[in-house]
Amino acid sequence: MKRSCAPVIVLLLSCLFSACRKTQVQPESGSSIVVGFSQIGAESAWRVCNTRSVQEAAAEAGIQLFYYNAEQKQENQIKAIRSFIAYQVDVIAFVPIVLDGWENVLEEARDAGIPVLLCDREINLDDESLYSGYLGTDMVRQGRSAAEYLIKKFAGDETGRPAADTAGPVRIIELRGTTGSSPEISRAEGFREVIDKFPEFEIIYSASGDFLRSKGYELMRNILDETRDFDVIFSHNDSMTLGAIDAMKERGIRPGTDIIIVTTDAEQAAIEALRAGEVNCVVECNPRQGPDIVRLAARLARGETIPPVTYMDETVFTEWDDLSGLPPRGY
Ligand code: AHR
Repeated sequence: MKRSCAPVIVLLLSCLFSACRKTQVQPESGSSIVVGFSQIGAESAWRVCNTRSVQEAAAEAGIQLFYYNAEQKQENQIKAIRSFIAYQVDVIAFVPIVLDGWENVLEEARDAGIPVLLCDREINLDDESLYSGYLGTDMVRQGRSAAEYLIKKFAGDETGRPAADTAGPVRIIELRGTTGSSPEISRAEGFREVIDKFPEFEIIYSASGDFLRSKGYELMRNILDETRDFDVIFSHNDSMTLGAIDAMKERGIRPGTDIIIVTTDAEQAAIEALRAGEVNCVVECNPRQGPDIVRLAARLARGETIPPVTYMDETVFTEWDDLSGLPPRGY
């Protein structure tokens, strides 16, 4: 462990970060592991759970976590990463808000000899050796799962399940996540990969609601001012879905019945909406990444190599499933 204790930096960090200590995990020579974790914010219940999962897992493992909330700004994340470098943490873990713009700061981390673990979201880089690995979810897969549900819903399937009723093409509205973020790009990509093979499906409108409930509401109100002529909403997260549902109900539209709704994340509120018939399919995105982040960070701190990509286990919940035994989601 190589920590320089420049007093100014320590003072700055003690203002910026909350740290925790318990029974300490040892990297190599008796002192505990220090991880700098830059989170993007608290835009959704999903995100809050994701943060809690990392904090709890670190506390449980006795890892000292410098946690920094970037409040949805990439520049804040870059500043936090630079502070982690100045403090010479053992590992930097961060959730990149968008795909692009990380080269410089990651080169600085490499020059300082600090391994970097990408969490939840991916990045675009020419030189992928600038980070050690990615731990998160398969977001292309999530987009595909959403589309596969729609194929079954509108085409029927081998179990004899009848096709949904539509005259003409199936018109889809897509509520996308934060522009330029990996979930936004990957979910859209996976969804199109499947849906494009079926000419009866048509994406008639696609816009970003920034993963926010308020923006999902606003977008849906604007859409409904223009048209009611659509059949499906595919939403990149539950927060936007819940906002869109509020807007639909205000206009007397029955979500889940008049409009088929497919949403991503699987927050408790979305599962309740699925049970109530107001949502038709919920694609899980698993936020409980803390234990794996901590496990991988500890390996990196010991100088070990980690797999380039580790995906969380996930599932899909649909209106055709028996959800009676499903335990509370906790987020
Ligand atoms: O990066 C994962 C996405 O970010 C989740 O789907 C969303 O709810 C969150 O804000």
